[in-house]
Amino acid sequence: MTFTQPGLQLIIPETEIAATVSRLASEIRRAYASKNPLFIGILKGSFVFLADLIRLLDFPLEIDFIVACSYGKGMESCGEVKVLYEPRLPVKGRNVVVIEDIVDTGLTTAAVVEHLKKQNPASLKLCVLLDKPARRRMPVKIDYLGLTVPNKFLVGYGLDCDEKYRNLPDVYVLEAECQTNSPT
Ligand code: PRP
Repeated sequence: MTFTQPGLQLIIPETEIAATVSRLASEIRRAYASKNPLFIGILKGSFVFLADLIRLLDFPLEIDFIVACSYGKGMESCGEVKVLYEPRLPVKGRNVVVIEDIVDTGLTTAAVVEHLKKQNPASLKLCVLLDKPARRRMPVKIDYLGLTVPNKFLVGYGLDCDEKYRNLPDVYVLEAECQTNSPT
């Protein structure tokens, strides 16, 4: 189902997303099938990707989430990253796979990875659906990468602008400015 709306340009159709998620699942299955990994999704953006990915994995695994702030309600990063919600499951000694929808400046993911590493996991790898290297401000080592994307503002498949568009099954370029309802 393609979503037609002024200001949205289709860039990654859901068929390409599905093929990409399937490839990532195969790579992760090979490495983790006997390791009872702990998948930690970075909310909110990763929830659609994580939901699709785990349903392609047919071995024991556990799931938790972490919430970190990087963007405000507009298009720019606030620069500072804060962890707002911690995983409830202990990370210590676990084989952790961090699940992220998109790495942009890298601030969020780098901060989350550093934060979780301090909790002494047995191992920690990063799985990212979309990488936007043109915007990088902080280096991030991506162990499982879906697709590299251009320096455009993307929405859909979990990615938002001011909390909208997360439900779209494809990924779109948002050509119009991302309006925010938050008071300035
Ligand atoms: C988005 C996305 C990543 C982060 C990437 O999350 O889900 O977590 O930005 O940006 P960065 O590489 O510049 O840090 P956002 O903070 O917008 O929150 P959300 O997941 O709730 O949409």
